[in-house]
Amino acid sequence: MEKTFLMVKPDGVKRGLIGEIISRFEKKGYTLNRLELLTPSVEVAQSHYAEHKEKPFFGELVEFLTSGPVVAMEWEGENIVAVSRLMIGKTNPLDAQPGTIRGDLASTMSQNVIHGSDSVESAERELSLWFATEASHV
Ligand code: PPS
Repeated sequence: MEKTFLMVKPDGVKRGLIGEIISRFEKKGYTLNRLELLTPSVEVAQSHYAEHKEKPFFGELVEFLTSGPVVAMEWEGENIVAVSRLMIGKTNPLDAQPGTIRGDLASTMSQNVIHGSDSVESAERELSLWFATEASHV
């Protein structure tokens, strides 16, 4: 069964949206395998967003992700990578449709409540980054 990495970002945790976000994926029929509340280190945040390191907003992205606790999660289900991206909605609030998580709950490009892996390969990379010490998380 396909797996993905989903993360409630610091703004989502601060705004009390953890339950709402988890509930949407549970109601969809997906299975939550792992969950950890943690404040990411700069190293993990930089590695997570490595593909964006040349972008002008990279510093801001890392600073935001390390600004407080996030909820890192492994979820499982049929076609979950693609479907969870649809459920999350577009990055730009102008494009995020009502009914999606960002369409309903986020209003800025950067503080947009949730991250979801954009491919099966990214999901594998991100899950091994965030849940590196497997034995301590199962
Ligand atoms: S891109 O350029 O299309 O690859 O970017 P995108 O996939 O839309 O976004 C990658 C992550 O960067 C965040 N982002 C931004 N942060 C700050 N400022 C600006 N302008 C900005 N644009 C995009 C965006 O929230 C994405 O984070 P994740 O966690 O991957 O959703």
